[in-house]
Amino acid sequence: MTINEIRTKYLEFFKANGHTIIPSAPIVPQNDPTTLFTGSGMQPLVPYLLGEPHPQGSRLVNSQKSFRAEDIEEVGDNRHTTFFEMLGNWSLGDYFKEEQLPFFFKFLTEEIGLDPKNLYVTAFIGDEKNNVPQDVESATIWTKLFSEKGIDAKVVSIGSEADGYRLGMQGGRIFFYDAKKNWWSRAGIPENMPAGEPGGPDSEVFYDFGTLHDVKFGAECHPNCDCGRFLEIGNSVFMQYIKKEDGSFALLPKQNVDFGGGLERIAAAAQGNPDVFAIDVFADTIGLLIHFSGKEYLDSRYQRSFRIVADHMRAAMFMLEAGVRPSNTERGYILRRLIRRAAQHAQKLGVEHGQGTDSMLVKCASIFIEKYKQAYPELQGDDVYRQITEEIWKEERQFAHTLEAGMKEFEKIAATGHIEAQEAYTLFTTHGFPFEMTLELAKERGLDVDSEGFKKEMDKHRAMSRAGSEQKFKGGLADQSEKTTRLHTAHHLLLKALQMVLGPMVKQRGSNITQERLRIDFSYGSKMTPEQKIEVERIVNKKIQEHLPMIRSTLPKEEAEQLGAEHEFGARYPDMVSVYSLGPKNATAENPQFDEAFSIEFCGGPHVANTSELAGTFKIQKEEAVAAGIRRIKAVIV
Ligand code: SER
Repeated sequence: MTINEIRTKYLEFFKANGHTIIPSAPIVPQNDPTTLFTGSGMQPLVPYLLGEPHPQGSRLVNSQKSFRAEDIEEVGDNRHTTFFEMLGNWSLGDYFKEEQLPFFFKFLTEEIGLDPKNLYVTAFIGDEKNNVPQDVESATIWTKLFSEKGIDAKVVSIGSEADGYRLGMQGGRIFFYDAKKNWWSRAGIPENMPAGEPGGPDSEVFYDFGTLHDVKFGAECHPNCDCGRFLEIGNSVFMQYIKKEDGSFALLPKQNVDFGGGLERIAAAAQGNPDVFAIDVFADTIGLLIHFSGKEYLDSRYQRSFRIVADHMRAAMFMLEAGVRPSNTERGYILRRLIRRAAQHAQKLGVEHGQGTDSMLVKCASIFIEKYKQAYPELQGDDVYRQITEEIWKEERQFAHTLEAGMKEFEKIAATGHIEAQEAYTLFTTHGFPFEMTLELAKERGLDVDSEGFKKEMDKHRAMSRAGSEQKFKGGLADQSEKTTRLHTAHHLLLKALQMVLGPMVKQRGSNITQERLRIDFSYGSKMTPEQKIEVERIVNKKIQEHLPMIRSTLPKEEAEQLGAEHEFGARYPDMVSVYSLGPKNATAENPQFDEAFSIEFCGGPHVANTSELAGTFKIQKEEAVAAGIRRIKAVIV
C-alpha cells in the first residue's frame, strides 16, 4: 500500500464517521510564536482544544505536514525522519475514549489490514501527585476490542521505562506506563507544562515486527523498548486537562480527543518491514542514489547516508515550499543544516554532484515534489519548482565554498601535528566545517581528534540553544527585565503603526523580544518603502512622547474580540482574557476608555505603566522578507 493510498483511506474512513477533512496547516506556524515548526497536527488547533468553537464542527480529520528538528541527529536508523505526515483526527468535546479507540483499531485492522495479533497498546498508569486517575477505561475498551478478534489481552502494569526493561512483556498486550510515556502535552510531562497549557493521558498503539530483542537496549523487551521490535504507530490523547496558575490541574470545558499517527510508520507496518525508508515514497530517491553511487542500500557502511540524504531532501523541499530560506538563524539555520548534511552524505556515497538542475540534491528534491504534489497542491506549478530547486543549488554551491575555506583552516591546524577538541569545535561553529569531515581528514593523516571533548563542547552549545527554545515557550519574551518590558510595549505601538501605514490587513505572525531589540513578523506582501518606514517610526515616537498609560484589563473573551483586540498569541484563548490597551491620556484601570485607545491587544504582559518609561527614540534597524507574504522588522530604542 502506498502512502497516498493509506492517507486517502484514513481521510475517507473518518469522513464516513462524521468528520470534516481540514487542510494541512503550513509547516511554518502562522500565528504561534512559541515554536519554529509545526510538529503535530494539534498545534494549529490549540484554541479549539481550549474551548473555542471550530467553524467546521466538532469532528475533524487531516494529514498534517510536520517537522521535528530535535530528531535530526536520530535520522539514519530505520524509524526516525525529521519531516513526516501526521494523520490526525479530533473530537472537540464530541466523542471520547469509547469511540476513539474502536475507530483507530478498526482503521488499522479492517482498512489497512494489519493483523491484530501484531498490535500492542499502552495506557496511563495514573498520577497521584496531580490527581489524575489511572486510565482503566482505555484498558477495558482495549480488552473488549481484542476479545472481539479472538485475542485474550492481558493487562500488565509497567510504570517507568526503566521498569519496562526490568519487567519485560509478562505475556501482556495492554500495558500501563507513567507520565513520561503516556501523558501528552506540547511541553511534555505535567511538571513541565506552563499555566494555561492543555494536556492529558494518552493511549498508544505499537506494531510488533517480531524481530529479536537486542539486549544492548535493556535486559527485557517491552512495547516502549528502543530495540526496533515495536514501532509506535498512533497516539490517542485524551486532551481533558488544563494546567492552572497554582500548578494544579483542572478539567477543560470540553473533553477532547487529539489523535496523531505517523503516516510513514503505518505504511511500514502495512508492509511488515520495520524500515520506514523502504516505503514507496522513498523508493525512487534511494534508487537514484544507488544508481549514481554504485553502492548497495543494505550495505551497513552506507545505509545511514542513503537515509539521511533521502530524509533531509524531503524535509528541505517542504521547508522551501513554506518560504524558509537557508540562513544562520532559527528556521533558516535548520534548513541550511539539512541541505549541507545531505550534501555531505551524498559525497560520502560517492555520487557525482552535478551542476544546477543536474545536481544530485536537486534531483532528489524534484522527485519528492512529484510524489507529493497531488496530496499537497501548494507544490504544483513552475514557480515553486523553480524556487525550490534554485535555492538548493545555491546552498550547495555556497557550502562548497565554505568547505574550501574550512579546508585551509584545517590544514593549518593539522600542520601543528594535533587537533584539539576546541579547534574542531571552532572549525564547525565558525567555519561550518562538519565534525565528521574533520574526523575523516584527521584519520587520513594519522592524527587523533578528541571526540569526547568535541561532544562536550557541543553539549554545552545544545544546552544553550535548548534554554533558548524554552524561553520561546513563554511567548516571545526572552525575559521579564525592564529593558525587555520596554521593548514589549514598543512592540504594541509598532504593530498598530504598521496597520495605520500599510493597512488594517497587517497581522502579527510571530514575535521575539530580548533586552537588545524587538522583532516582529507580520503579514504583508512587499518590501516597505523608506517613506513608509519613516512614517511608522514617526507614529511610534509621537506616541512615546505623548506619555500614554498602558492599561491591563481582564474581560470575557467575546467582549475583547468585539473591541477588535489583536490576538497576539494565537495559541491561548481562555474564557477570561487579559487585554492591554494604550491610551487615551486619562485612561485608568477603572475606566480604560477602549473607544479612544490607540491600540488594544490580547496579551499577558508585562508592560510599562506609561510610554514615558520608554525614554528614547524608536528606530527600525532592518526590514526584510522571511517567507512569502511575511516581513520581519527588527527595531530598537536608542
Ligand atoms: N498530539 C499528539 C502527538 O503529537 C497526538 O496527535 O503525538
